[in-house]
Amino acid sequence: MTPNEVAVLDYGGQYCQLIVRRVRELGFASHLYAPERLAELNRPGAIILGGGPRSTSDADAPDVDFAKLMSFGVPVLGICYGMQLLNIKHGGTVRPGVTREYGPAKLVVADAECPMFQGVSRESQVWMSHSDTCQDRSGGTKVAATNEDGVPVALQWSPTCFGIQFHPEVTHSHEGTSILRNFLTHTGAKLAKFDIQAFKARMLEQIKLDVGSREVICGVSGGVDSTVLAVLLQRAGVKVRALYIDTGLMRLNETPEVKAQFEEVGVPIEVVDASERFLAALKGVTDPEQKRKIIGNLFIDVFWSAAGEKVQLLAQGTLYPDVIESATSGSIASKIKTHHNRVDRIMELKAQGKVLEPLAELFKDEVRALGQSLGIPHRALWRHPFPGPGLAVRVPGEITPEKLAICRAADDIWIKELRRSGEYDRVWQAYAALLPVKTVGVKGDERSYEAAISLRAVISEDAMTADWVELPFDVLRAASNKILNTVKGVNRVLYDISTKPPASIEWE
Ligand code: XMP
Repeated sequence: MTPNEVAVLDYGGQYCQLIVRRVRELGFASHLYAPERLAELNRPGAIILGGGPRSTSDADAPDVDFAKLMSFGVPVLGICYGMQLLNIKHGGTVRPGVTREYGPAKLVVADAECPMFQGVSRESQVWMSHSDTCQDRSGGTKVAATNEDGVPVALQWSPTCFGIQFHPEVTHSHEGTSILRNFLTHTGAKLAKFDIQAFKARMLEQIKLDVGSREVICGVSGGVDSTVLAVLLQRAGVKVRALYIDTGLMRLNETPEVKAQFEEVGVPIEVVDASERFLAALKGVTDPEQKRKIIGNLFIDVFWSAAGEKVQLLAQGTLYPDVIESATSGSIASKIKTHHNRVDRIMELKAQGKVLEPLAELFKDEVRALGQSLGIPHRALWRHPFPGPGLAVRVPGEITPEKLAICRAADDIWIKELRRSGEYDRVWQAYAALLPVKTVGVKGDERSYEAAISLRAVISEDAMTADWVELPFDVLRAASNKILNTVKGVNRVLYDISTKPPASIEWE
């Protein structure tokens, strides 16, 4: 850990990672820790106990080693579950609420002298997500703020120990950032700074040290993470081999465009054209899981045979959220991208100290900021995510070169229309899928019996949930007209208005 960083204890709340992000946005170093790791913390500058889904009255409710927590002598803030836990530790009690309070609520500042609320409006909107409340408090506890019914939602136990029931880290808490900033800057905390320029300088030095004269190999796709990774390695002045596998399931002109994108930033890539192998392996296969398995396994084989037996160092674009998941739930995070990485081979390399993960400290938006400071063009940094199995998950049923060509042409028109209309950057991910149905239409004076295209455009935070985008009709109309008029074999265009859940973002 960085000395004097803000340590956030993860009680399983959906916003815990967001607290870390907000603290960093405010310019201070921060990491997330499982509560059991409190004793391992080395000179934290402040400690935040995050929210969690449990009730403090549950038999196996997660706890905090209060004596240890206080022994650091640094400012402490409990948010939601964290506040309830601190209230109990200070001799108060927590009662189950009659109803669950979820959503916007009014914050009324009761103690304008409280350092947490300096400069905060007397009344503002905050975001609540809890059912228990801190009804009984020990003597000496100050109520710093209440909700509009007078129920305490912010407590102060000492000059440096606070609790808030609401979530300052979400944007629905209108003055949440000020409240969090106050905690970090008005309570006497001595905090380490976080800024991407300093991070970059440190990273470049570290990479030089770690790599020495060895050759580093990395897989690149043209996506944000692998692009930033490859450019970072190149800027560190180490020997890099960037491998790009063309699966034949790429979008229109994708391979030459990715090649040009890398040339522009000064990192030549090695293109491995395995498209024929992929198409041959997928011949006659219609089951989605089967398709994924074939593509995943073949990708691994192609990558490692191109990499060769004697890999000196492998660089991966692992980000902080992947590391956190595996650290706190001890779990399945490593499985997420198993189809891209031969896990056992990577594990072997890891055990030998041959895996480099320079982005593992960063969130996605920080990777973009780093990319920008490395001079990577906006277009590359804001490219929509593209799935490893490529167009195979956007052409349900058997994959054929003809179907891929139709899907590519329609997708290209759709994406260009989104760019032309300025909607591309507002959308998190967009694509065209070729549906496995033929529909009747009329073209000229004749009956047609041709394919249907489904257009999709979604917004999402982390791909776990997604909503379709209410695009202007003229954008939809322009794309539809162009597809119907120019893509051979298509006589119908649909716009997918399914949320995830229950749908997924991709078709398969
Ligand atoms: P779904 O369809 O599951 O997609 O809602 C969620 C996000 O993940 C991407 N996706 C993948 N990415 N390999 C990847 O690297 C995959 O196998 C894969 N499957 C889906 C999808 O494009 C969306 O952004």
